Amino acid sequence: MIPLILGFACKAPPTETDPPASDTDTDTDAPPTTGDTGTPPVARPSLVSPAEATDLDPAPDALRVALVAAPHTWMAGDQTVGGFAYNGQVPGPTLRARVGDTLTVELDNQLGMDTSIHWHGVDVPFAMDGAGWQVSPVAAGESFVYTFVLEQAGTFWYHPHFDTAHQVDRGLYGVLVVEDPADPPVDSELVLVFDGVAEVEAGEDDPTVDPTPLRWLVNGLLDPVWSPPSGQTVRVRMLNASNAGYIALEDVRVIATDQGLLSAPESSTVLAPGDRAELEWSTGSAASEVTAVPWSLAGPSAFPAVPLFGVAPTGGLAAPAEVSWPFSGAPPTADPGRTDLRYTFTGSAENGWEINGQTWPSIEPDVVALGSEVVLEIRNVSPAHHPFHLHGMAFEVLSVDGVAPDTRRVEDTLDIGVQETVRLLVVADNPGDWMSHCHILPHAEDGMMTVLSVQ
Ligand code: C2O
Ligand code: CU
Ligand code: CU
Repeated sequence: MIPLILGFACKAPPTETDPPASDTDTDTDAPPTTGDTGTPPVARPSLVSPAEATDLDPAPDALRVALVAAPHTWMAGDQTVGGFAYNGQVPGPTLRARVGDTLTVELDNQLGMDTSIHWHGVDVPFAMDGAGWQVSPVAAGESFVYTFVLEQAGTFWYHPHFDTAHQVDRGLYGVLVVEDPADPPVDSELVLVFDGVAEVEAGEDDPTVDPTPLRWLVNGLLDPVWSPPSGQTVRVRMLNASNAGYIALEDVRVIATDQGLLSAPESSTVLAPGDRAELEWSTGSAASEVTAVPWSLAGPSAFPAVPLFGVAPTGGLAAPAEVSWPFSGAPPTADPGRTDLRYTFTGSAENGWEINGQTWPSIEPDVVALGSEVVLEIRNVSPAHHPFHLHGMAFEVLSVDGVAPDTRRVEDTLDIGVQETVRLLVVADNPGDWMSHCHILPHAEDGMMTVLSVQ
């Protein structure tokens, strides 16, 4: 699989015989950036959640936010990025609302180029989706008001859907938290947005994007330290905003993925580009380092563990007991056995990526009837993983390679491995010309996008 990675990496990733200087072994006691023992320790930045947006509407069931998208120079670790930001911050402001709230966002486009905002994972009315089949963007200097009711609880995100790979890579992304007031209370929340440094180092005019960034920005910071009080339960909401990098975590308590609480908790997760997951994190008194299992669009890899951030709790309290989340334990929907729609993923890094042999924008939308239940079977016969994402409607995973999940699983972004076949159930209850695509944004840009038209 390594030749595949080299095929479109902007820099050759290290091999087993050529480990990165910053991580010569898997011992995570030392800060990753000071692996060379001759270097004095560098003060690590403090990890905090991205600042939240100001609510301009005093009504309790409305969140109204002004977002200005504009050029912004920011630091990716030690690299200066001539990029963009929402309201001058990368990640953009976190929007925090509750189920049933009306979200209104006034976008002011000061980028000097077209843009839009797409509400990834939220089943918005089509006119609010910021993307679609032959939809116009918000022109430079123009503004647009997005407004819709938030009907799903979970951790979602927003990003442009025009010139997407470039604009997201340069800093336009933020988290949308939709709380469910019925959830058990926790002591605090931490929002974590991951983005690969290697990508932003690639430079604005460099079309290549490293699919295996070995250095990750966490909330825009390289190698930060999180210092929560000990003895607390923290709900950690994570987003992988990277264009192409994967983050795999083990020995964690995963309580939610793309579409809110899981039916049952899990102990590991792989965040493909565009994915979200939530962890229940019980802080004890011991310090630790959080590393990711090396993973890429070629699957698990032999690279060293990937440093993310340090944890240095304050105080000497023990970790609290687990929270009783209302996991439903619901079984998956039985596979109806028929197939209404088939997508086959083909292609290569050299020749581009395709869905059913079609390349965006030369695609023929698939049309399904409003109100129908669509069984979508996707076969990936290409030599890379592809995180499949559908706009407008979340989907249930019926099976992966013929095996149904243990419990009901609803997602909006699903990584599909090499030679894997997944069967998805889409309840086509939202009219529109919905895009679906690989969320490795260079693949999408390459043409790996299509349209599901619900009429
Ligand atoms: Cu996250 Cu089509 O988008
Ligand atoms: Cu989306
Ligand atoms: Cu892809």
